[in-house]
Amino acid sequence: MPSLPVEARTVPSERALAIWRSADAVCFDVDCTITVNDGLDLLAEFMGVKDEVEELTNKAMDGTMSLTRSLEERLNLINCSPDDIRRFIKAYPPQSRLAPGIKELIKALQKRGVAVYLISGGFRELLLPIAAYLGIPKDRVFANRMHWQWDDETGMPTKLVGFDISEPTARNQGKPEAIARIRETNPYNTVVMIGDGITDLEAVQTSGGADLFIGSGVVVEREAVVAEAEWYVYDYRQLVSALSRYKVAMVGSGAWACAAARMIAQNTSQDDPEDEFDDNVSMWVHQGGELVDVINATHENPAYFPGISLGPNVVATGSLAEAVADADLLVFCAPHQYVRGICKQLMGKVKPGAAAISLTKGMRVTPEGPELISQIVRRTLGIDCSVLMGGNIAEDVGREQLSEAVIGYSNLDNAQRFKKLFQRPYFRVTLLPDPIGAELCGTLKNIVALGVGMVDGLDLGPNSKAAVIRQGLLEMRDFCQALYPSVRDDTFLECCGVGDLVATCIGGRNRRVAEAWTRSAVEAAAAEGNGPASGRSWAELEAELLKGQKLQGVLTSNEVQQILRTRGWEAHYPLFTTINRIINGHLPPHLVVDYIEGAKAEIPDEAEEDPVP
Ligand code: NAD
Ligand code: 13P
Ligand code: MG
Repeated sequence: MPSLPVEARTVPSERALAIWRSADAVCFDVDCTITVNDGLDLLAEFMGVKDEVEELTNKAMDGTMSLTRSLEERLNLINCSPDDIRRFIKAYPPQSRLAPGIKELIKALQKRGVAVYLISGGFRELLLPIAAYLGIPKDRVFANRMHWQWDDETGMPTKLVGFDISEPTARNQGKPEAIARIRETNPYNTVVMIGDGITDLEAVQTSGGADLFIGSGVVVEREAVVAEAEWYVYDYRQLVSALSRYKVAMVGSGAWACAAARMIAQNTSQDDPEDEFDDNVSMWVHQGGELVDVINATHENPAYFPGISLGPNVVATGSLAEAVADADLLVFCAPHQYVRGICKQLMGKVKPGAAAISLTKGMRVTPEGPELISQIVRRTLGIDCSVLMGGNIAEDVGREQLSEAVIGYSNLDNAQRFKKLFQRPYFRVTLLPDPIGAELCGTLKNIVALGVGMVDGLDLGPNSKAAVIRQGLLEMRDFCQALYPSVRDDTFLECCGVGDLVATCIGGRNRRVAEAWTRSAVEAAAAEGNGPASGRSWAELEAELLKGQKLQGVLTSNEVQQILRTRGWEAHYPLFTTINRIINGHLPPHLVVDYIEGAKAEIPDEAEEDPVP
C-alpha cells in the first residue's frame, strides 16, 4: 500500500469504517495500547533493571530484533520470583495503568455484543488482573506463559527460568496466528486488531489474520506503524464515536406515537459518547404532504399532538419505506386496524436483524382465531417484536407526568435495548417476560373503558363504576388465560393490567366517546320510547370528539365478541358480551350495570352478524 500522509490516516477510509462498524470481534494488544506502559518494562523497573530492558522492548516493537529473542533477554535480566510478581501487581493495580478512554471503548464494544480479546506478547501472569478489570474472560486472553522452577519440598514455584515458546504470541507473526485460532473456534466474519506495535500490524499482513488493523498512538507513536496502518488513532473516543448506532423508526404519528417519539428523541439526542442510538428518529406520517413539512419545520404535530414539541431530531416522512430504511429498531404505533396493511407494505423492506416493539393496543381476528399485533409483525416481517404497555395517556406523557410501562418480551437483549430507548425520569419502564399477557391487557381494557363511559353517560356514581371495572378486570384475566394458559396472574397487577385499566377508565378516549354516545342514546330513547336506542353513531362521535385520533374499543369489542361467539364463551363473559350488545344497539345502555341479564337477553338473529356500528 502506498504511504499516505499521517493526517489522511487519522480519517478512516469508507472500507475501514465499514469493517469497524461490522466487527464481530476486536483484538487488542495490551502493552502501550491498553496500558500506558509496557508491563515487562514496568516489572523491570520494579526489579531495578529498567534501562536495559526498555531498550530491548523498543527493539522488538520497532522490528529491529525478533520478539522471541527480545523476550528471552528481557526475562533473563528481570529474573523475578512469584512473590515479586504478587508485589508488583499490588503496587500497580490495573486501574492505575489504563490508557485514557480504553475502558469506555471496551465497554461500548461489549455493550454492542462485540467479542473483545487481548492478544499480547506480554505475560498472562501480568495481564489477567487487567483482563478481569475490563470484564474480558480468561479464555479471550492470548499471551505468553512464564516457566518456573518448582521447589520439590513445598511444591511451589520459586524462580523464573524462561517462558513457553510454543505460544503463538512468543514469536513474530504470532498475532495473526492467534487470530486464526480464534477464527477456527468462533464463527466471526469480521475481526479487527488494534495495537501500537509492529507485531500488532502483522495481524493484517498474513492471510487468516485480522480484516483491519487500527494503529494506536494513544500512548506512543511508532513511525513504522504510522506509515503502514490503514487507520491510525490518537484518541480512543474517535473509535467510540465511529461505532455504529441503532437507528430508530416510528411507524405512526398519532397522539401516542408522537408522545413516544418525543421520549425516544430525548434519549437518542443525549450528549453521551457511549450512546448506542443514532440521534435522528424517523417518523412515518400516513397523510404525508403538508403535515410532513409542518412537523419538520415546527417539530410539532398540530393534527394529533398540538402544543408539544417532539424535538428537532424527529424527522417526519410520508414514505413508509424511507422511514424504515436502515432502521435497526422499529416502533409500531398505528391504530390496530391498520397495522396488518402497513406490515404488508413493509415486507422485504426491513433491515435483516432489526427488532420491533409494538405500542398498539388491539388485535385481529381471523377464521383461524385471534392474532395479536406483535404476532402480525413477527409473522409478516420475520423479526422479534416486544410490546410496550401501561397506563399511558399520550397527552400526559407529553407533559412529562409520571407514567409507568412494561416491556413484554421474548428476547431479553432486545427488551433491554428498548428499555434504554424509552426510559425517562418521568416514564418508568420495567421488563415483563409475559408479552402476550401485557399486550392482551392493553387490548381488552379498551372494552372495559367503553363500559365505564356508559356508566358516566348514565350519571351513575363511583360504586357502579368500580363494579364494572372489577368485573372487567376479571373477564380480562379469564379471557387471556383461556386463550393463552401461559399468561401469568401477576401481569394483571402490573401497570399494563390494573394500571392501564385505571388510567383509561379515568382519562381515556374510549371512556369519553362512550359517555357521549350513551348520553345521545339515552336522549334518543327518551324521545322514542323504551328499548335499544339509536342516537349518534360511534363513527360520527369519534370524528367529532377525537378529531382524527382513533377509537380502538368498539372494533376490539366486535373482534373479541367474534371469538366468544365462535367458542361458545359468551355466558362466561357477561360484561364483555353486554357491552358489545349495547354498542351495536341490541340492548339499552342501562344494562351495562345489569350485565348478567344483558348477557342472557335474547337478541335478534341478525345480531349474530358483526354490524359496523
Ligand atoms: P391516533 O389514535 O391518534 O390515530 C391517528 C393516527 O392514525 C394518525 O397518525 C393517522 O395518520 C393514522 N391513520 C389514519 N388512517 C390511517 C390509515 N389508513 N393507515 C395508517 N394510519 C392511519 O394514534 P395513537 O394515539 O398514536 O394510537 C396508536 C395506538 O396506540 C392505538 O392502538 C392506541 O390504542 C394506542 N395507545 C394510544 C394512547 C393514547 O393516549 N392516545 C396511549 C396508549 C396506547
Ligand atoms: P384510550 O385510547 O381510551 O385513550 O386509551 C389510551 C391508553 O391506552 C392509555 O394507556
Ligand atoms: Mg503494545
